[in-house]
Parts: sequence; structure tokens; C-alpha cells
Amino acid sequence: MKKIAAALIVTALLPLPMQAQETAEKLVASMRKAEMTYKELMTLMGKSIGMMQEGVVTQNRELVEQGANIIYTHPAPNHQPWDIMKPEDQAGFKQALLTYDKVLDENTNEIVKASRQRDWLSAAGAVAQLQTSCVSCHLQWKDKAQKWPLTLK
Ligand code: HEC
Repeated sequence: MKKIAAALIVTALLPLPMQAQETAEKLVASMRKAEMTYKELMTLMGKSIGMMQEGVVTQNRELVEQGANIIYTHPAPNHQPWDIMKPEDQAGFKQALLTYDKVLDENTNEIVKASRQRDWLSAAGAVAQLQTSCVSCHLQWKDKAQKWPLTLK
């Protein structure tokens, strides 16, 4: 609970200073565009954490690395991610995208680092931390996503 609260506080505090340096538009533009929706991208995120979790449980470092690579190099969807939100929610969701893009990479770094050291208990803790980050964003945003399909394609 503490970790979730901390993640939510981080999200609340980070947005303004970060906005000056980087925008969600720039972040998304820097990624390869894939032929999939944001929701389908999320399916890929689910595969990624699943691979890392299984890799840690079975001490399979390659599985961890391959799963991590999905987080590090994931593409952008074929529409602006914030298109799935109501107009009044879009600014907040953009900030969440910026914030969590970094948080997920950092959490994943911890998983990779620990598994390279064969410190599987720490790696398991890091998987739990990554999951907490996913869940924190979902608590705030998942139910706000509008029903698919919109007029996006
Ligand atoms: C920036 C916020 C955010 C982060 C971070 C995030 N998600 Fe999501 N996720 C969403 C939203 C919003 C939806 C709902 C999308 C929709 O219904 O169109 C969603 C939906 C999902 C779904 C359901 C997809 C479906 O077909 O209904 C899965 C699985 C998922 N996320 C996995 C993850 C995992 C795993 C992580 C962490 C590695 C993660 N997400 C991180 C915002 C986020």
C-alpha cells in the first residue's frame, strides 16, 4: 500500500517540472509506430512482465532480458495514446505517460541488474515493484479509457 501511495504521489509531483523539458508528443514521436492500438500495446506489456516474472522464477536470465527488451524498446500505437481519453483527461494522461515511461524503465533495470547477479530474491522484489507501477497507473487511468473502437483509424 505504501509503495502504491508513493507511486501516486510521484505521479502527482513530477508533472510540472518535467513538462518544461519533455512532452508526451515528443516522447511518442521518438518511437517507432506499430500497427496496433494502445490497448494492444498494453497486451504486449502484459507479455513482457510475464516473461520477466517467469524468467525470475525459473532463473532463466535470457527470458528476463528478452522481456525487459520489450519494455525498453516498445513502439508507439497507431494513434496518439491520449486519444483514448476524454478531452478533459488528456493532459493528465500525457503526464502519466511521461512519468511512467521512465518509472517502468527504472523498475526493469532493477530486475535485469539483479538477475544478472543471480540475486533472484531481489529480482523477484523488483518484479513486484514493476507490477506496482503498472497497477498504480491502472488505478488512476484504466477505467477512464473510452470504449474501443473510436474513430481513430
Ligand atoms: C501510463 C499508464 C499505464 C501504465 C504505466 C501501464 N498501463 Fe496498462 N493500461 C493503461 C490503460 C489506460 C489501459 C486501458 C486501455 C484501454 O482499455 O484502451 C491499460 C490496460 C492494460 C491491459 C489490458 C489490455 C486489454 O486488452 O484490455 C494490460 C494487460 C495492461 N494494461 C498491462 C500493463 C502492464 C503489465 C504494465 C506495466 C509493465 C502497464 N500495463 C502499465 C495504462 C497504463
